[in-house]
Amino acid sequence: MDLTSLFLMLKQRDVITVDDIETTEMFDIFELARQYEKALKSGKKINDFESKIMATFFYEPSTRTRLSFESAMHRLGGSVLSVPEPKSSSAAKGETLADTMRMASSYSDIIVIRHPLDGSARLASKFSSVPIINGGDGSGQHPTQTLLDLYTVWKEFGDFDNLTITILGDLKYGRTTHSLVRMLSRFKTRINLISPETLKMPDHVISNLPRNFKVNVSSDLNTVISETDVLYVTRIQKERFVDPNEYQGVIGAYSINEETTHAMKKGSIIMHPLPRIDEITPEVDETPNARYFQQAANGVPVRMALISKMLKVN
Ligand code: CP
Repeated sequence: MDLTSLFLMLKQRDVITVDDIETTEMFDIFELARQYEKALKSGKKINDFESKIMATFFYEPSTRTRLSFESAMHRLGGSVLSVPEPKSSSAAKGETLADTMRMASSYSDIIVIRHPLDGSARLASKFSSVPIINGGDGSGQHPTQTLLDLYTVWKEFGDFDNLTITILGDLKYGRTTHSLVRMLSRFKTRINLISPETLKMPDHVISNLPRNFKVNVSSDLNTVISETDVLYVTRIQKERFVDPNEYQGVIGAYSINEETTHAMKKGSIIMHPLPRIDEITPEVDETPNARYFQQAANGVPVRMALISKMLKVN
């Protein structure tokens, strides 16, 4: 497939879940992201999208997703309109998401939304006349996080087949893990899902994976750490617990420290979508395994590539 057809495939489409991104499109995004990464390092100016406007609506806190999307749009030569919190828009006066999206799509060419409710990005896409990108909907999905996560793995290992990826932490509420497992189920990747019993990956995520794709579910990291190529650590999502006692019961359930890295095999890496609280101790930052800050930095070229493919006019 030539590059022009790939641009046209993603153009004018929403990215709500990872299912909206074909595998060939993902690899094409990676190739373009690598080119953008080189261009950014060399200081080359890109003005391909100077007539384009991105609107960002963040109804939940964010550092990486909002800033890297906005940075990506600026780096492409475009402009950004930003609603960084619900109280800074007419949502605070009771305006519906539907009306907000109807209006925002007449002011912009593409919209990124983060919202506390599962399904909100899908709803937004029904009322927007411009493409919607889901920047995280409740405990639903975070598809662009998966793109940058897998770009990080791809740069490190070149492939996803025959890797062992261990996903650790809050797999119930952690939307990044839902998107990640779903996308990885397209490959011959071995997946370990390690969490406290109360924070296991929801059945609706597991039961929707392809029937021949098996995951190993456990609460014991020690049994899989030595075979792991990628340890993907996640934060316990305190803000999503309905019962504070349930949160108290899982605080500090896992702590990745320097000793953990000694049990890991040579060449293995530790990732985290961030923010981290106490699940990875700061001493790990200095080990050769740590990739989480590079992973977050990869958000800019990856999002540049995605925006570029969604907006490109051929
Ligand atoms: N990884 C991630 O979504 O980070 P933020 O919440 O800071 O956007």
